[in-house]
Amino acid sequence: MSSSPSKLFTPLQLGSIGALQHRVVLAPLTRNRATEPELAPSDTAVQYYRQRASPGGLLITEAVHISPESLAYPSTPGIWSTTQVEAWRRVTQAVHERGGLIVCQLWHTGRVAHPDFAKHPSNVGERHRPGVSASQVQIVSRSGKPGKTLTYDGIRDFAVPRELSVEDLQRLIDDYTLAAQNAKAAGFDGVEVHAAHGYLIDQFLNNGVNCRTDQYGGSCENRCRLLRQVVEAVSGVWADGKVGVRLSPHDAPNGGNTFYGCTDSNPDAIYSHAVQALNEYPLAYLLVTEPRWVGKHDANPEKDPGFQMPLINLQKYRSLFHGVMIGAGGFTPASSYEACMEDRQGYDAIAFGRWFISNPDLPARLKAWHQSKSSRDRQEPTRDPPWLNRYDRNTFYASGAEGYIDYPSMEYEGAALSSNATTSIEHEGMIAGKYQLMDPSKVGTSLTATENTEARSKL
Ligand SMILES: Cc1cc2nc3c(=O)[nH]c(=O)nc-3n(C[C@H](O)[C@H](O)[C@H](O)COP(=O)(O)O)c2cc1C
Repeated sequence: MSSSPSKLFTPLQLGSIGALQHRVVLAPLTRNRATEPELAPSDTAVQYYRQRASPGGLLITEAVHISPESLAYPSTPGIWSTTQVEAWRRVTQAVHERGGLIVCQLWHTGRVAHPDFAKHPSNVGERHRPGVSASQVQIVSRSGKPGKTLTYDGIRDFAVPRELSVEDLQRLIDDYTLAAQNAKAAGFDGVEVHAAHGYLIDQFLNNGVNCRTDQYGGSCENRCRLLRQVVEAVSGVWADGKVGVRLSPHDAPNGGNTFYGCTDSNPDAIYSHAVQALNEYPLAYLLVTEPRWVGKHDANPEKDPGFQMPLINLQKYRSLFHGVMIGAGGFTPASSYEACMEDRQGYDAIAFGRWFISNPDLPARLKAWHQSKSSRDRQEPTRDPPWLNRYDRNTFYASGAEGYIDYPSMEYEGAALSSNATTSIEHEGMIAGKYQLMDPSKVGTSLTATENTEARSKL
């Protein structure tokens, strides 16, 4: 890792979205708490985002469906209707009142959407039913059997998707354009194109799913065509520098750590091509997911090997991308401080998912901790602080307020975040409560190289 100092708590100009005062970003996090049947953010969502806003801090929304065709999970929000736009406006206002910035992550799930979602009231009468992809390739598990998904009617096998025609794709671009316009009307500061995690755009990138022989299949250039067209359409609505993109390059040909079975015979080639293609657009940022996080093994923070695995995408893609690059996936306070470097060897900012769920004031907690440590301690990657609320995975995708807006903040307890923060954050009673504290002796321990390899092979 670089020897230049960390930039985690220095300003960053994020395209024309705005000037960040720090680089601790809220990663996009689906929470399944949208209102039914409107699929709009609720009053508790307004509170959830307000809690996580900080002056000059960037929040990325949970993934937001561009159209009913994308519905793949119960109670996830959209941005195609007036009701949804009005509800999102309340979210953006709440974040702006606290001096924060917020971008909307635009989502199409493609084949991850089960056709049963056509029964949802927002889909009834729609011509374009859920369950589409680059090709008619079903999501299968490693055993070769159809993968499983959750619908409103319970667990179902993933279905064989319909292949989108070239005409369908033109209509899809129009859906992205409308969603981008709606995000503008809702008062967002920018939008992020979700091209990661095995959803529709990623399905076009990966040749294990994209078997097309037209201008959208075959070569890397062709498989990147949809990504480019979506970025161009969305950029046509927003000004230069207000659009971000998320990619999740994986690293094992025809298998390994992939999302929803999205495999490729040469992942390095397709993702290198995609990253370089994105240099042609004046993006606000590129957010990349480290392959150590695949969403399957976060039940136990103290046993999660992902927190100790190396940063593969940083090594591969930082030098290829010319703009602001945000990293996500398995960062701890100490490793985020180390990985956030401005010298092209590090990420420009770090997006946190799970720790931001359970610590609404995560930027303030991290800042207080880093200010309280000597530089020798800060550089010690095995030292993680005991002052974070532990997240409860059981409530990630639950309903209601529990595990959503009831995690305690330092400021709710009246603690000062500045000069006396060190003593405050070490006072357990302040943040202990219903949620357990992280055990530093377990979370901070490094795995050996052999343990790393073994852990990866089980993913
Ligand atoms: C509950 C949950 C929901 C998520 N939802 C989304 C999402 O809507 N969009 C997205 O791009 N990533 C999503 N992710 C991935 C996160 O943005 C993030 O990359 C991941 O949690 C790894 O970061 P972490 O180790 O800091 O948690 C989700 C992760 C979790 C745990």
